[in-house]
Amino acid sequence: MFSKDFIFGVATASYQIEGSIDKDGKCESIWDSFTKVKGNILDGSDGSKVCDSYLKYKDDVKILKELGVNSYRFSIAWTRVINEKNELNQKGLDYYINLCKELLKNNIKPLVTLYHWDMPKWLDDLGGFLNDDICDYFAHYTDIVTKGLLGLVDNYITINEPQCIMQLGHRVCAHAPGIKYTDKEMLKAIHNLLKCHGKAVSVIRRNVPNSKIGFAPCARPMCPSDREDELLEKKCYEKFFECKNDYEFPNTVSIYSDPVFLGDYPKSYYEEFKDILPNITKEDLKLISQPLDYIYQNFYTGNYYSLDKDNNLVKDEFYFGYPEGNIDWLQVVPEALYYGPKYLYERYKKPIIISENGFCNNDVVSIDGKVHDPERTDYIRRYVSELEMVSKLIPIKGYYYWSLFDNFEWNSGLKKRFGLVYVDYRDGKRIKKDSFEEIKKIFLK
Ligand code: NOJ
Repeated sequence: MFSKDFIFGVATASYQIEGSIDKDGKCESIWDSFTKVKGNILDGSDGSKVCDSYLKYKDDVKILKELGVNSYRFSIAWTRVINEKNELNQKGLDYYINLCKELLKNNIKPLVTLYHWDMPKWLDDLGGFLNDDICDYFAHYTDIVTKGLLGLVDNYITINEPQCIMQLGHRVCAHAPGIKYTDKEMLKAIHNLLKCHGKAVSVIRRNVPNSKIGFAPCARPMCPSDREDELLEKKCYEKFFECKNDYEFPNTVSIYSDPVFLGDYPKSYYEEFKDILPNITKEDLKLISQPLDYIYQNFYTGNYYSLDKDNNLVKDEFYFGYPEGNIDWLQVVPEALYYGPKYLYERYKKPIIISENGFCNNDVVSIDGKVHDPERTDYIRRYVSELEMVSKLIPIKGYYYWSLFDNFEWNSGLKKRFGLVYVDYRDGKRIKKDSFEEIKKIFLK
């Protein structure tokens, strides 16, 4: 059983659900332009309509209410709130003001993500995260949002999954803007991104009384195959925090979370990259490491590891017959919600909130008009039971399922469905899947 004040929520992000990409003065984002290039999105889709939440937010809130969540995590589109002259676009901001009012009327607390990947195209044209002024642009945007939502929102996440921003946007180039960086540029961009986070924290603290702030990286924990083996767990922990582990730079945890929570990059970072380090000053590190209230972390998957006869860590390439997600990176490893939070707490010693966890399925509407998704329910049950187990050892404060609806799954397009609610993209019809009812039984028992 989780504590009485446990946060149970669902998460979404602006580009993935809103549609209306050219309404009310919204300017172009890197995703608006990236999706126009043939071949970038698996099924050729884009975010121009998706769940239509820009127009249907009141319906969204009704569904949230029915689901029984006490919090809703969504992101703000920088491109709606700020125009190409870097000035406030009040109409765009009004959308979020109205959404928050509607949520609060229904006793649902908003958790706002400031940056969930949809950078204004004009800012990316000025160099994006390689531009040293990016932090001031981000601070200005944060100032406008936090003042505009004053009295409505006090919970903020600055940046979502910085690893994916860098790895997918600038390494693999499967995500917008799809501009490849060298290792040296990558380190500079990461440092600027962390400074954006830091500046946003200062602005939120200044503008919002009693604010609660976090940063939401992602991780794929190394889970011991044998839970009794202490040496194995210790080695998994150490590998998890290496700055270049199996998942490789820039996809690891410590490069982002050590500066934020411990005030400096890991020692191995300075050794590994000694010839290409960006300019890192004491003031930067102070800015980046201002105290946060929570560790937010997105966990979907992990890997099992064992020890060979010489006690070296080896990755096990097997899974335990759990349902398979229909997206290549999502192997079902429920222990990720036990070891992930445990490792993070051991290192950073802050209360933890799972800001995303979810399952991608090949959902279809059956002949009875319903969507039966027992695999998703199975996934949630297994993961949440691990989370419950670890909550006996460390403070776990909340869980957000990804996602409320099926939505635009970035370069994978519309065919990859994570929602508790099915969306028929032809007419916008929403159908509650079986897991919608099942998740209530888990959290509202
Ligand atoms: C992480 C991202 O934050 C979200 O945007 C994405 O849709 C889900 N994971 C599923 O891939």
